[in-house]
Amino acid sequence: MSEINLNKPITLVGIMGCGKSYIGKSLAADLGVEFYDSDSLIEVEQGKTINQIFADDGEAHFRLLEKDMITGLLDKGFCVIATGGGCVTTPEVLQNIKNNSISIWLQSDVDTIYKRIKWDKTRPLLQCDDSKEKLAEILDNREELYRQAGIHIDNSLSEISNLTDNIILEIRKFNAD
Ligand code: S3P
Repeated sequence: MSEINLNKPITLVGIMGCGKSYIGKSLAADLGVEFYDSDSLIEVEQGKTINQIFADDGEAHFRLLEKDMITGLLDKGFCVIATGGGCVTTPEVLQNIKNNSISIWLQSDVDTIYKRIKWDKTRPLLQCDDSKEKLAEILDNREELYRQAGIHIDNSLSEISNLTDNIILEIRKFNAD
């Protein structure tokens, strides 16, 4: 466990498949704090998968659920939050994350991400003929939003243990500034 104590959450942002949930869990375990996955919590709360919410109620409705969920999680004090990749497109959510947490963008290139998620059927925005092209388009549209996170971590190559150590190092530096 790493000796670090913050009075606010660490929030992971980035495109689908960049590793927010996987790395978030490991980071929370290293820090000895709670881990919250916004999408999983929405699914439990609604009793439906993200796919079903998109199909039944539409993306706009999902964004409202997401806004409420992340707003609540940002009040939990020192913890790790994995957000859904599109939460930054809701300006109020992005602002709230920037104001009330240590925000970390997990950066990855399209090829790396595509390899990880090409068989995944749980992401409604990628259920199309050319999911790689769609991923590139989404990343292009959102890059400026992700870039607003306080800390940027490249997650294209690193082993997970190096990565969490690196994240903790960057948080210490960021917090000392
Ligand atoms: C979305 C990303 C997903 C999920 C939903 C929409 C997006 O989360 O919230 O499918 O708009 O990029 P992950 O980033 O955890 O896949």
